[in-house]
Amino acid sequence: MRYLIFTDIHGNLEALLSVLKFARRRKIDHYLFLGDMVGYGADPNDVIQKLRMLKPISMIRGNHDKAVCCDLDSVHTFNPIAASAIHWTRETVTKKNLSYLNNLKKGPVILHDQITICHGAPFDEDYYIFGEFDAAEAFLHLETPITFFGHTHFPFIYSESDHIVEGTFLTGNSNEMKIESDKRYLINPGSVGQPRDRNTRAACAIYDDKAKKISFFRLEYEVEEAQRKILAADLPPALAERLSIGI
Ligand SMILES: [Fe+2]
Repeated sequence: MRYLIFTDIHGNLEALLSVLKFARRRKIDHYLFLGDMVGYGADPNDVIQKLRMLKPISMIRGNHDKAVCCDLDSVHTFNPIAASAIHWTRETVTKKNLSYLNNLKKGPVILHDQITICHGAPFDEDYYIFGEFDAAEAFLHLETPITFFGHTHFPFIYSESDHIVEGTFLTGNSNEMKIESDKRYLINPGSVGQPRDRNTRAACAIYDDKAKKISFFRLEYEVEEAQRKILAADLPPALAERLSIGI
């Protein structure tokens, strides 16, 4: 079975289209989306529409999805730029799409005996796993050998064996790692629509459970078009600027 792992699209349709085009050539059996389809970018409705058409897909909500549809009070925990994008998104999404966001599951979700998905951490969907200390705590809450998570917008793989946790940041545009049966893993594919690791390309990963390997990819997309739409929508210009730096 080949899974496409992707997360944190944040309303960036151009980045999503690039990932989906790539996935079409890779014979994906199951899509795993880890949350934050909206917030920041100018195309929340089109992004939601695309995700609704993908099958089969398993997914959970992200903190931006939650803030937009059903927890506007949480906006005070966002920085002013992110908060203003939440309000803009709330005004822009159709009723149907708002109720779709509202129906997204809260993570973690155990897919089957091998895979769990969550947005932030398994013990708190809003918590950022940044580093081995956080990962070690997360492993205490996990029952499956592999967990995919998002939220930080950094492609990272943590492995655990005999209570030793090791983290690896995935640099460059293509990486492949072997999944070993005597280890457990926490894996973040990086962000589709707002990478923050100074690599401007859209991030995703493919997990092949037969070959026991995970491959990480960074894909070019039409950054300038995504930026143009953000500015045209009167969203904060910083949200457009950051896409060309990858922060
Ligand atoms: Fe996010």
